[in-house]
Amino acid sequence: MTTDSRASAAFLIDEALGFWFPAALRAAAAVGVADHLADGPRSPDELASATGTDAGNLYRVLRLLATRGVVAEDPEGGFRLTPLGDALRTDAPHSARSAILMNTDRSLWWPAASMDRCLTEGTSAFEGIFGMPFFEHFAQDAETAAVFHEGMAAMSDPENAPIAAAYGFPDAGTVVDVGGGHGGLLLEVLRGRPGLRGVLYDQPHVLAGHRLDTEETKGRWSVAEGDFFTAVPAGDVYLLKRILHDWDDDQSVTILSRCREALAPGGRILVIDAVVPRDNAPHQSKTLDVLLMAALVGRERTEADFEALFTAAGLRLSRIVPTPTVLSVVEATAV
Ligand SMILES: C[S@@+](CC[C@H](N)C(=O)[O-])C[C@H]1O[C@@H](n2cnc3c(N)ncnc32)[C@H](O)[C@@H]1O
Repeated sequence: MTTDSRASAAFLIDEALGFWFPAALRAAAAVGVADHLADGPRSPDELASATGTDAGNLYRVLRLLATRGVVAEDPEGGFRLTPLGDALRTDAPHSARSAILMNTDRSLWWPAASMDRCLTEGTSAFEGIFGMPFFEHFAQDAETAAVFHEGMAAMSDPENAPIAAAYGFPDAGTVVDVGGGHGGLLLEVLRGRPGLRGVLYDQPHVLAGHRLDTEETKGRWSVAEGDFFTAVPAGDVYLLKRILHDWDDDQSVTILSRCREALAPGGRILVIDAVVPRDNAPHQSKTLDVLLMAALVGRERTEADFEALFTAAGLRLSRIVPTPTVLSVVEATAV
């Protein structure tokens, strides 16, 4: 074995150990460590009694989190929150806590551990583990649903305003947010455009958590429940943010076709997803793509993939508007 091959092996082994960091991040988020550091540094003993945890083990988790700047240990042994770790607080602006709990939930963790089945069997790993498709699993009880939908809203929260600002939305007509979750993006699109109306379309248990009812949007929003494979409400602009990536090509064409059928003349369908770059560089879409493979039946797509979907649904790709987030607005119009 040469020195280089030793270094390569050591590197790959370190990579394989990498999953323990998100596990520690999850543990800290689950017990609410950051909420108890908001007022300044505390010793592991103080933190342990505030969070009802074991002080020795809590210290070990914090020591690992400090290696990536989430917290910092001072020379006296106290831990403080860094500006990075501040985003772990439950009430931080754009708090990441719920998104971390969702992204490390066993509904994703267990399929990740079974990813080899995706390769050997050519299928998603989720149904084999949980006995039902992804969204059914999350709809089965309120607590499980909250993990996903609050997590999804938290994941979307920092990207909604930049997306709403990056695309030239009209100030008239009706925007339908298809599978819009709690409505964070629709709210940002309606803000500052007083002539625009919005419809939030999703499943009933999701709509119960919507946040559209604000002074600024008074009288300009409604919610509609239904199944986007069957029909969608009429509108001038459709938003499909992180929707098509959950589904396979045939299912995606069905969703797009339902939107095209309901689209007003001259209207637009905006697919807001990552456009996977064709290079070897890291990109969140390449990570989410294997998540979607293992836990759902979907995929992240390239520009050519979107063109093919649109053509099959009687649409054409008119332009791609990049945003400051990892997502782009892929605009489609009727042929
Ligand atoms: C990945 S989340 C995206 C939520 C939101 N657009 C965002 O970016 O935060 C997918 C959404 O699709 C909704 N959904 C799943 N299946 C659906 C269906 N058949 N009809 C309507 N909505 C559905 C889910 O409830 C969820 O809110």
